Amino acid sequence: MEGRVALSELESAVHVPSVDARERDIERVLITEQQIKDKLRELGEQITRDYEGRELLLLGVLKGAFVTMADLSRHIRIPLEVDFMAVASYGAATKTSGVVRILKDLDHDLEGRHVLLIEDIVDSGLTLNYLLKNLRGRRPASLDVCALLKKTGIQRVHLDVKYVGFEIPPDFVVGYGLDFAERFRNLPYVGLLKPEAYTDV
Ligand code: IMP
Ligand code: MG
Repeated sequence: MEGRVALSELESAVHVPSVDARERDIERVLITEQQIKDKLRELGEQITRDYEGRELLLLGVLKGAFVTMADLSRHIRIPLEVDFMAVASYGAATKTSGVVRILKDLDHDLEGRHVLLIEDIVDSGLTLNYLLKNLRGRRPASLDVCALLKKTGIQRVHLDVKYVGFEIPPDFVVGYGLDFAERFRNLPYVGLLKPEAYTDV
Protein backbone atom coordinates (compact mmCIF):
# COMPACT_ATOMS: atom_id res chain seq x y z
CA MET A 1 0.00 0.00 0.00
CA GLU A 2 1.37 3.43 -0.92
CA GLY A 3 2.61 5.54 2.00
CA ARG A 4 2.75 2.57 4.31
CA VAL A 5 6.02 1.03 5.34
CA ALA A 6 6.11 -2.40 6.84
CA LEU A 7 7.75 -2.63 10.25
CA SER A 8 10.24 -5.19 8.97
CA GLU A 9 11.43 -2.71 6.30
CA LEU A 10 11.88 0.00 8.94
CA GLU A 11 13.87 -2.28 11.17
CA SER A 12 16.28 -3.19 8.45
CA ALA A 13 16.59 0.45 7.31
CA VAL A 14 17.54 1.80 10.77
CA HIS A 15 21.01 0.88 11.88
CA VAL A 16 20.93 0.29 15.62
CA PRO A 17 24.43 -0.08 17.05
CA SER A 18 24.60 -2.79 19.69
CA VAL A 19 26.93 -0.75 21.91
CA ASP A 20 26.38 2.93 22.67
CA ALA A 21 29.71 4.40 21.52
CA ARG A 22 29.27 7.39 23.82
CA GLU A 23 29.62 5.11 26.81
CA ARG A 24 32.92 3.40 26.11
CA ASP A 25 34.90 5.71 28.39
CA ILE A 26 32.41 5.78 31.26
CA GLU A 27 33.44 4.03 34.47
CA ARG A 28 30.02 4.28 36.10
CA VAL A 29 26.81 6.28 36.22
CA LEU A 30 26.64 8.68 39.15
CA ILE A 31 23.20 10.22 38.55
CA THR A 32 20.72 8.44 36.30
CA GLU A 33 18.60 9.96 33.57
CA GLN A 34 15.47 9.33 35.64
CA GLN A 35 16.92 10.98 38.75
CA ILE A 36 17.78 14.08 36.73
CA LYS A 37 14.33 14.13 35.14
CA ASP A 38 12.60 13.97 38.53
CA LYS A 39 14.88 16.61 40.03
CA LEU A 40 14.41 19.08 37.17
CA ARG A 41 10.64 18.69 37.43
CA GLU A 42 10.84 19.40 41.16
CA LEU A 43 13.11 22.43 40.65
CA GLY A 44 10.85 23.69 37.86
CA GLU A 45 7.83 23.55 40.15
CA GLN A 46 9.72 25.37 42.89
CA ILE A 47 10.91 28.07 40.46
CA THR A 48 7.37 28.42 39.07
CA ARG A 49 6.07 29.11 42.57
CA ASP A 50 8.92 31.46 43.51
CA TYR A 51 8.67 33.60 40.35
CA GLU A 52 4.87 33.59 39.92
CA GLY A 53 3.74 37.05 38.76
CA ARG A 54 7.26 38.13 37.80
CA GLU A 55 8.91 38.26 34.39
CA LEU A 56 11.73 35.77 34.50
CA LEU A 57 14.89 35.80 32.42
CA LEU A 58 16.73 32.48 32.35
CA LEU A 59 20.38 32.98 31.69
CA GLY A 60 22.31 29.91 30.57
CA VAL A 61 26.05 29.66 30.87
CA LEU A 62 27.37 27.97 27.74
CA LYS A 63 28.30 25.50 26.86
CA GLY A 64 27.70 23.22 29.84
CA ALA A 65 24.27 24.51 30.85
CA PHE A 66 22.57 23.97 27.50
CA VAL A 67 21.02 20.60 28.36
CA THR A 68 19.85 21.57 31.85
CA MET A 69 18.52 24.87 30.53
CA ALA A 70 16.47 23.18 27.80
CA ASP A 71 15.00 20.57 30.11
CA LEU A 72 14.47 22.76 33.17
CA SER A 73 12.83 25.59 31.19
CA ARG A 74 10.09 23.21 30.06
CA HIS A 75 9.14 22.57 33.69
CA ILE A 76 8.78 26.27 34.50
CA ARG A 77 5.15 27.17 33.97
CA ILE A 78 5.30 30.97 33.80
CA PRO A 79 6.19 33.23 30.85
CA LEU A 80 9.93 33.64 30.53
CA GLU A 81 12.71 34.69 28.20
CA VAL A 82 16.05 33.00 27.70
CA ASP A 83 19.51 34.33 27.00
CA PHE A 84 22.96 32.78 26.90
CA MET A 85 26.42 33.79 27.83
CA ALA A 86 29.49 31.83 26.83
CA VAL A 87 32.47 31.66 29.13
CA ALA A 88 35.60 29.59 29.13
CA SER A 89 37.28 28.61 32.34
CA TYR A 90 39.03 25.33 31.70
CA GLY A 91 40.46 24.48 28.32
CA ALA A 92 40.92 20.74 28.07
CA ALA A 93 42.23 20.22 31.61
CA THR A 94 40.24 19.03 34.61
CA LYS A 95 41.48 21.61 37.10
CA THR A 96 40.12 25.14 37.28
CA SER A 97 42.44 27.91 36.17
CA GLY A 98 40.43 30.65 37.88
CA VAL A 99 40.66 32.62 34.68
CA VAL A 100 37.29 33.37 33.11
CA ARG A 101 36.92 34.73 29.62
CA ILE A 102 33.59 35.99 28.27
CA LEU A 103 33.34 34.53 24.77
CA LYS A 104 29.77 35.65 24.10
CA ASP A 105 27.90 38.30 26.04
CA LEU A 106 24.14 38.61 26.57
CA ASP A 107 21.64 40.02 24.10
CA HIS A 108 19.42 41.36 26.92
CA ASP A 109 19.80 44.42 29.09
CA LEU A 110 19.50 43.12 32.68
CA GLU A 111 18.43 46.33 34.38
CA GLY A 112 15.26 45.74 36.40
CA ARG A 113 14.97 42.09 35.28
CA HIS A 114 14.53 39.01 37.48
CA VAL A 115 17.47 36.91 36.40
CA LEU A 116 18.01 33.24 37.16
CA LEU A 117 21.45 32.04 36.14
CA ILE A 118 21.58 28.39 35.10
CA GLU A 119 24.88 26.56 35.61
CA ASP A 120 25.85 22.97 34.92
CA ILE A 121 28.16 22.64 37.92
CA VAL A 122 29.68 24.64 40.73
CA ASP A 123 33.17 23.31 41.34
CA SER A 124 35.66 25.81 42.80
CA GLY A 125 32.96 28.48 42.37
CA LEU A 126 35.43 30.84 40.73
CA THR A 127 33.53 31.01 37.44
CA LEU A 128 30.24 31.72 39.16
CA ASN A 129 31.81 34.23 41.50
CA TYR A 130 33.21 36.14 38.57
CA LEU A 131 29.94 35.98 36.64
CA LEU A 132 27.79 37.13 39.55
CA LYS A 133 30.00 40.14 40.16
CA ASN A 134 29.87 41.02 36.50
CA LEU A 135 26.08 40.60 36.28
CA ARG A 136 25.31 42.46 39.52
CA GLY A 137 26.94 45.50 37.96
CA ARG A 138 24.17 45.47 35.33
CA ARG A 139 21.56 46.19 38.04
CA PRO A 140 19.04 43.34 37.71
CA ALA A 141 15.97 43.46 40.01
CA SER A 142 17.03 40.06 41.35
CA LEU A 143 19.82 37.63 40.57
CA ASP A 144 19.81 34.00 41.71
CA VAL A 145 21.51 30.79 40.68
CA CYS A 146 20.33 27.31 39.78
CA ALA A 147 23.01 24.66 39.32
CA LEU A 148 22.38 21.06 38.35
CA LEU A 149 25.42 19.92 40.35
CA LYS A 150 27.46 21.24 43.22
CA LYS A 151 30.63 19.58 44.41
CA THR A 152 30.64 19.36 48.18
CA GLY A 153 33.01 21.32 50.32
CA ILE A 154 35.53 22.51 47.76
CA GLN A 155 34.31 25.99 46.88
CA ARG A 156 37.11 28.50 47.17
CA VAL A 157 34.69 31.40 47.59
CA HIS A 158 31.41 31.68 49.49
CA LEU A 159 28.49 31.41 47.11
CA ASP A 160 24.76 31.40 47.65
CA VAL A 161 23.32 28.92 45.17
CA LYS A 162 19.55 29.05 45.64
CA TYR A 163 18.58 25.96 43.64
CA VAL A 164 20.88 22.92 43.60
CA GLY A 165 19.99 19.69 41.82
CA PHE A 166 22.54 17.33 43.37
CA GLU A 167 25.48 17.64 45.74
CA ILE A 168 28.23 15.34 44.48
CA PRO A 169 31.71 14.31 45.64
CA PRO A 170 34.59 16.38 44.25
CA ASP A 171 35.34 14.03 41.33
CA PHE A 172 35.44 15.01 37.69
CA VAL A 173 32.12 14.15 36.01
CA VAL A 174 30.79 14.24 32.47
CA GLY A 175 27.43 14.08 30.73
CA TYR A 176 24.21 16.08 30.65
CA GLY A 177 26.06 19.06 29.17
CA LEU A 178 29.35 18.53 31.00
CA ASP A 179 32.38 17.75 28.89
CA PHE A 180 35.87 16.43 29.01
CA ALA A 181 37.83 17.97 26.11
CA GLU A 182 34.44 18.89 24.54
CA ARG A 183 33.16 15.32 24.51
CA PHE A 184 30.43 13.54 26.49
CA ARG A 185 28.02 16.51 26.62
CA ASN A 186 25.32 14.40 24.98
CA LEU A 187 25.23 11.65 27.61
CA PRO A 188 21.74 11.60 29.13
CA TYR A 189 23.15 10.97 32.63
CA VAL A 190 26.05 12.17 34.78
CA GLY A 191 28.93 9.72 34.98
CA LEU A 192 32.53 9.20 35.99
CA LEU A 193 35.22 8.70 33.37
CA LYS A 194 37.52 5.72 33.27
CA PRO A 195 41.02 6.81 34.39
CA GLU A 196 42.50 5.86 31.00
CA ALA A 197 40.16 8.33 29.26
CA TYR A 198 42.10 11.22 30.83
CA THR A 199 45.43 10.03 29.58
CA ASP A 200 44.24 9.29 26.02
CA VAL A 201 43.63 12.97 25.22
P1 IMP B 1 34.53 26.35 38.72
O1 IMP B 1 34.93 27.73 38.28
O2 IMP B 1 35.69 25.60 39.29
O3 IMP B 1 33.34 26.33 39.64
O4 IMP B 1 34.17 25.52 37.41
C1 IMP B 1 33.16 25.93 36.61
C2 IMP B 1 33.16 25.29 35.25
O5 IMP B 1 34.16 24.30 35.09
C3 IMP B 1 31.84 24.57 35.05
O6 IMP B 1 30.84 25.43 34.56
C4 IMP B 1 32.24 23.48 34.08
O7 IMP B 1 32.19 23.96 32.75
C5 IMP B 1 33.67 23.16 34.44
N1 IMP B 1 33.71 22.00 35.37
C6 IMP B 1 33.91 22.01 36.69
N2 IMP B 1 33.88 20.78 37.21
C7 IMP B 1 33.64 19.95 36.18
C8 IMP B 1 33.47 18.51 36.07
O8 IMP B 1 33.51 17.74 37.03
N3 IMP B 1 33.23 18.06 34.80
C9 IMP B 1 33.16 18.85 33.71
N4 IMP B 1 33.31 20.19 33.76
C10 IMP B 1 33.54 20.73 34.99
MG1 MG C 1 33.92 22.51 30.36
